[in-house]
Amino acid sequence: MEKIVIKGGKALSGEIRASGAKNAVLPIIAASIVGTGTSMIRNVPHLDDVTTMNELLIQMGVQLTVDETTNVEICADHINNPRAPYETVKTMRASILALGPLLTKYGKAEVSLPGGCAIGARPVDIHLKGLEAMGAKIKVENGYIIAKADRLKGCQFYMDKVTVTGTENLLIAATLAKGTTVLENCATEPEVVDLANYLSKMGAKIEGIGSSIIKIEGVEVLHGCEHHIIPDRIEVGTFLVAAAATGGSITINNSKPEDLESVIIKLREAGAEINTTEDTISLNMHGKRPKPVNINTAPHPAFPTDMQAQFCTLNAIANGYSIVTENLFENRFMHINELIRMGADITVAGNQAIINGVKHLNGAPTTATDLRASASLVIAGLVAEGETEIFDIHYIDRGYEVIEEKLNQLGAIIKRVSFT
Ligand code: UD1
Repeated sequence: MEKIVIKGGKALSGEIRASGAKNAVLPIIAASIVGTGTSMIRNVPHLDDVTTMNELLIQMGVQLTVDETTNVEICADHINNPRAPYETVKTMRASILALGPLLTKYGKAEVSLPGGCAIGARPVDIHLKGLEAMGAKIKVENGYIIAKADRLKGCQFYMDKVTVTGTENLLIAATLAKGTTVLENCATEPEVVDLANYLSKMGAKIEGIGSSIIKIEGVEVLHGCEHHIIPDRIEVGTFLVAAAATGGSITINNSKPEDLESVIIKLREAGAEINTTEDTISLNMHGKRPKPVNINTAPHPAFPTDMQAQFCTLNAIANGYSIVTENLFENRFMHINELIRMGADITVAGNQAIINGVKHLNGAPTTATDLRASASLVIAGLVAEGETEIFDIHYIDRGYEVIEEKLNQLGAIIKRVSFT
């Protein structure tokens, strides 16, 4: 097994390059199922979740190759096993993204029900209702969603809640449906936009990309295409918070500042000087202690839930009180107990964390509990006095590409250590 060991106390300084976005590449690889011919996906991050999605498609019969720069070439002309088994869905909930593409291209799909996960129940009822509205026959048997359809039919469908993967599944499904589909109350996250742009390049007819109402005119065939994945705004945000928490000064190249507006606003409120160009973000904290900032998570363009844990760490060492409110997922405060063990003064009441900033955190052995929680512990380790160990780091490898290398490049003292 492996753990991460960090010797805290160094202000981050220097330049790194953002990786491709995990939450864009996963739906895009899944969406490749609807194409006829070969697609080439570039700027693919080297992440465990991407490997899992690739393996899932290969098991179905998709021809998929990854070159040395992790570009992925996909041809899904022959699928003989349209199934996402429990073992895969259990490790990566985004496997549900196979449902819409399989059903619309091959007329059948079996996908294990995701069930509970570390950050809450996370149901998929809206995905299923939307596909049923398009004419799919769906039953749940022995823990599997079993879906069939001759050809999906266009429809008007309102999503009761804004759901990212729900919007993506229904958008992909509608591209090959007969007639027009209007999806209402759609997620507008940049990753949904990247998926819609990819589908458009494949020949899909989509209007309203990036808005809450998307109209899709179904076509008979989609073809392969080339696509470059957008930068990972959550990875970029995580490094910016790490730099702010350590009082440092960094520049992130290959980023897309316009996708990070709510995060940049909060970092400025915390006292950071931030300058942007079209594709770089520079943050300078001038060695200052952060000011506390209140956080309220909500769908894009509001503050992303995937940045909540990192801001808890920033607030934990800020100069005063703050309240962090998590509105999307229950159980998404599991990092708080670990931060308290490092000396943070935080009280959780329902979906709010009331944080009284302390001057110093102390290094401690800690355990990662989910992807973004693990990022908050890395940041805590970077600011803490002494040594911090992080166990269960497989969560980090799901979503952060070469995180130790990037942090080392910024001057942090962090290493991965094998142990038995
Ligand atoms: C995606 C992201 C995840 C991010 C989340 C919210 C991917 C691969 N993952 O997850 O990183 O934290 O968006 O920005 O892109 N809901 C229902 N019924 C449904 C679907 C969702 O009630 O059928 C609820 C969920 O329980 C949650 C809310 O809707 O409370 C939003 O969840 P959703 O946007 O679907 O999250 P994911 O797409 O799973």
